[in-house]
Amino acid sequence: MKIEVPSAFHFRGSKSFLLFLFSAAICLCACAEVNYQVVPLPQQISFDKSGKYMLLTKEMTVGYPTDNAQMKRNAEFAAEYLGLSVTSDKKNADVSLMLGLKSMNPDAYAISVNKKGITIQGASESGVFYGIQTLRKSIMNETGEIRLPYAWVCGSPRFSYRGTELDCARHFFPVSFIKKFIDILALHGINRFHWHLTDDQGWRFEVKALPELAKKASVRSCTIIGKNVGLSDPDNAIYDDTPETGYYTQEEMREIVAYAAERYITIIPEIDLPGHMIAAMSVYPYLGCTGGPYKVWGIWGVADDVLCAGNPKTLEFLKTVYGELCEVFPSKLIHIGGDESPRVRWKTCPKCQAKMKELGLTNEAQLQTYINKEMEAFLALRGRQIIGWDETLEGGLSENAAVMSWRGYEGGTAAAKLHHQVVMTPTSHCYIDYYQLKNRDAQPLAIGGYLPLSKVYSMEPVPDGLTKEEAKYIMGAQCNLWTEYVLSPDHAEYMLLPRLAAMSEVQWLQPEAKNYEQFLTRLASLEQSYRRLGYKFCTAHE
Ligand code: ACM
Ligand code: ZN
Repeated sequence: MKIEVPSAFHFRGSKSFLLFLFSAAICLCACAEVNYQVVPLPQQISFDKSGKYMLLTKEMTVGYPTDNAQMKRNAEFAAEYLGLSVTSDKKNADVSLMLGLKSMNPDAYAISVNKKGITIQGASESGVFYGIQTLRKSIMNETGEIRLPYAWVCGSPRFSYRGTELDCARHFFPVSFIKKFIDILALHGINRFHWHLTDDQGWRFEVKALPELAKKASVRSCTIIGKNVGLSDPDNAIYDDTPETGYYTQEEMREIVAYAAERYITIIPEIDLPGHMIAAMSVYPYLGCTGGPYKVWGIWGVADDVLCAGNPKTLEFLKTVYGELCEVFPSKLIHIGGDESPRVRWKTCPKCQAKMKELGLTNEAQLQTYINKEMEAFLALRGRQIIGWDETLEGGLSENAAVMSWRGYEGGTAAAKLHHQVVMTPTSHCYIDYYQLKNRDAQPLAIGGYLPLSKVYSMEPVPDGLTKEEAKYIMGAQCNLWTEYVLSPDHAEYMLLPRLAAMSEVQWLQPEAKNYEQFLTRLASLEQSYRRLGYKFCTAHE
């Protein structure tokens, strides 16, 4: 059933008395006229000159191409968000989901509201999903009668890679929260979840062939309380003796992969190597140059003990782990870490030095590249591509490696010039484990730094100094949430929101379309949605 009514837009600019009467009527009937001004902002919002609108009513139905399972799921999402029901009678549906939007960008969408009803068309199924999200956010905070002005609304993201990283090694987050996190990404049009699964302080990825990893390397017996003392004085630090435990079974991870895929989010798993491996080394000490013993770390920082690059059993171990990783995660990109891996142990390890001699390597950085190349070849056989932190540039990038630039823009710039794909995630704009307000006392303890909302919004992922051709290698941008100081799901949400909203406009909007002041007005509405959805967020903005 479609109801056509003259819209409020008829009255705009007319006599103030009429406007007063009309406003009074709005108050009495508790009806709301949506404006489609959401985060991320659509590229175009054009209202029909007729000024008409349609009423959204509970009796309405959502239709979809019935031969397409993804579109069926999209229809279920649309029905859930809009409070409607799904129909297989697509000819008579009030809301029609369709493919076939002419755009080179698969994530592009167009919403049209007119006398025939609502159509959400995508260049692919993901585009339809983003159109649904835009409509959902447009109406979410409205109560009573919802009026959708006749309009044409379209959007198309600037970048294909729109990511967020979550560290589940330093603190473990349950499956229920991982799903909520994925819902949060979907709300913001983010399509990559970079899942940091292992580190010195805990191993969270079940490897069936190496059961000690899940059983023991996932357990940290104690955790430093308060601010880290670093490596200088760990014995005199104060520890919480409650063990931090938890790992994801392969069944759980498969379920999460499917949950994310329904929301057009690819999970890029990270097993960090050759550094950040103390947890694994604690159960398999042969993996380290000295042979240990090692203990899952209860402090934060960078460990000198890393995987022994000269021991053939190290590669055997890695191939077992990554082999199972590929069985669980279908993502083309697989993150091999590569950050913060000191090479001091390698300098004095006979096995590492012998390997360098055998390969004719002149420095230890090249030894890291040797491991990366081995992993690249192993993963290429499984149809995968490696991505690593920007330290992977130091010994020379392996042939097809993508780079995640975190120590500034320089690594990513260099990689793009070498025609390697890049994700920009510099600490300066993307590290949302930093404080978001100047007044540290007004926030929970954080790792340090200061990254306010406005700074995230100001990020430009494509650095100066690249040619147009080189700039094409910048796939996108992502925020990183490291969790040394993030102790609970509520705390994680507080760190994520609303900075993720700012990042989503960095990822979706062309630079000339960004406007921070205007963003803040749209954010106010999004924050109302956060409240509705029960998400914690930082209410102050700097
Ligand atoms: C990193 O923040 N160590 C990549
Ligand atoms: Zn060694």
